[in-house]
Amino acid sequence: MRADLAHVIVTADGSRTLKHPSHGQCYHSTAGARLEADSLYVRGSGIEAAFTTESSSRNVDPSGEPGPSGEPGPSGEPGPSGVPGPSGVPGPSGVPGPSGEPEKANGINVLDVGLGLGYNALATIDAWHRAVSPGPLHLISLEIDPDLVAAMSSGMASWQEGWPTDWLQWVHGLKDGVACFRHPHSRHLLTWEVVTGDAQDLLRHVEVGSIHYIWQDPFSPDLNPTMWDAGWFVKLASVAAPGAVLMSYSVARTVKDALTSASWSWERIPASGVKRHWLKARKLPSGDATSQLH
Ligand SMILES: C[S@@+](CC[C@H](N)C(=O)[O-])C[C@H]1O[C@@H](n2cnc3c(N)ncnc32)[C@H](O)[C@@H]1O
Repeated sequence: MRADLAHVIVTADGSRTLKHPSHGQCYHSTAGARLEADSLYVRGSGIEAAFTTESSSRNVDPSGEPGPSGEPGPSGEPGPSGVPGPSGVPGPSGVPGPSGEPEKANGINVLDVGLGLGYNALATIDAWHRAVSPGPLHLISLEIDPDLVAAMSSGMASWQEGWPTDWLQWVHGLKDGVACFRHPHSRHLLTWEVVTGDAQDLLRHVEVGSIHYIWQDPFSPDLNPTMWDAGWFVKLASVAAPGAVLMSYSVARTVKDALTSASWSWERIPASGVKRHWLKARKLPSGDATSQLH
């Protein structure tokens, strides 16, 4: 394992993160890696609530037998209800519903930009697993650093000390970058696809208009500017479903301006920990970019 992947920092909530060896930026807020994943991405986005409200009326796979252990389904295989295999997401899933929320007839699709140490992905899976009767979930994690993906997938990385048993089991479920789990109550499938490479290139394999939630979590705009410019947010808008939600820890002026010019509306939301605000953006219908007051 690379030496820098062993240099752990314990954050204020007890969860562990790393400091990048060359630029020195931490992978998470020192206020808490787990806190950031839970508060900003899972709760701040509304996906936790959506797992409950979007769920119970949905059809359960008629042929949906659990995997041999009674828990995960067959890893890497397309699910019986059209859950995709590697590098494909379910088809575009409709128009905004009456509440303005995107209609998610075939389940919820999440794009996790910058898998990193895995916190946002695992916190998402955790929330789905805890929901009473959620529908299907498809989570695509993109990461440019292959060593990080290998270490995270091992379940034995330095920052995984103290991780809940469930989290380690889900990580161990990854086979060739894909894991499938069946919900213990709703019996719907979760498919987690981890793809290694540059997100700028990988995005072209994601189906247009299919993504409901985006975890925008590369390193900061000054270190990683092409992952925060208008061109990037235009690409994200093209894979986003109508009304899709994008969450980000950065409230930099350049980021807000880039979002606006790429047809995303945005608002600052209260942050937990040391930051005062995080950012919640929503995809606007094309040509409907409005000026922002914040
Ligand atoms: C702040 S960390 C992400 C932390 C992560 N979301 C988590 O929950 O642990 C940023 C990550 O983005 C990745 N990254 C940066 N540029 C990227 C790119 N062009 N494509 C894919 N991943 C990228 C970095 O390698 C790094 O792992």
